Amino acid sequence: MFLTLMPVIERFPFIADLLFKTPASKAAIDDFLRLQSYCNEQRDRHIAEMEGVDRARDYIEAHLLYQRDQPEMFNNTRLTMAVSDLFVAGTDTTANTLRWAILYMIDNPDVCEKVHKEVVKAIGNDRLPTMQDKAALPYTQAVLEEVNRKASLAPMGVFHRVVDEVTLANSGGWKLQPDSICTFNTYAIHHDPAVFPQPEKFLPERHLKEDGQFAASPHLSTFGLGKRACLGESLARMELLVFFVALVQRYSFSLDPEDSRTMWQLTEDPSFSKGTVLRSPPLHKIVFKARNI
Ligand code: HEM
Repeated sequence: MFLTLMPVIERFPFIADLLFKTPASKAAIDDFLRLQSYCNEQRDRHIAEMEGVDRARDYIEAHLLYQRDQPEMFNNTRLTMAVSDLFVAGTDTTANTLRWAILYMIDNPDVCEKVHKEVVKAIGNDRLPTMQDKAALPYTQAVLEEVNRKASLAPMGVFHRVVDEVTLANSGGWKLQPDSICTFNTYAIHHDPAVFPQPEKFLPERHLKEDGQFAASPHLSTFGLGKRACLGESLARMELLVFFVALVQRYSFSLDPEDSRTMWQLTEDPSFSKGTVLRSPPLHKIVFKARNI
């Protein structure tokens, strides 16, 4: 995902020069280089420890075994890039979704209390949640789905390059030419009133069936669409459910009383969104108060 700008840079190489010049991009690039060097260290540590190993015990070992058999396809550079990609794609995304979830719980305390009630009924207070609890938490799942909709974490998806000419359905014959760059406007889909009435409101009920069971919306594209959709969707959904439930089970949340910004400034003000790929809230502190359990 970090490389999402590559197709644009390939076409307009001067953008790369500009990017290197701004302090914010330099900081991002420095961070990425640090991550790459960490991944290289991990690779070297695995190489040193896997003499005689012919059955992979983790992803890096699996890649290294493929490198032995298919060096034309798998090499050290690809391994470093793949592991870095998993870090970038798999950490900021889930962590920022949790930040959104907590902000929306502060903004919608009645929803948060309903989640807490469901969690205590399904799990109690004596143990942490597991994925086995998922079926007993339909309202909580609907809340997380609404967090995904409202937050629209990757608001413009990720850029893709068209390989073959494509004719768009219901467009009067509009064609996308090979090599054009395309993306889809997730934020607009998630806020389309024809699909999600009163899109500005946080309404978990829109993801519940009449019998109260959770129904994933076919219109959400939180994790992208098609063959190149998010590789980590099921892991992300698992992490989000378990972490979110554990937090609501044990704590209530409020904004730092010293922070004078409004909830609108923290969640909607368009001027805060400075990232290229992720829509994350501006930095803020949260007060966690332990519930009496
Ligand atoms: C809330 C959490 C997450 C969100 C919202 C999210 C969202 C996305 C989106 C929108 C894409 C682009 C899909 C497209 O181009 O159509 C993507 C791709 C990807 N994601 Fe995630 N993601 C999340 C968590 C994760 C996790 C936990 C991992 C792995 C540990 C992961 C790994 C990837 C990878 C490897 C790709 C590139 C897939 C490809 O190009 O074939 N993601 N993700």
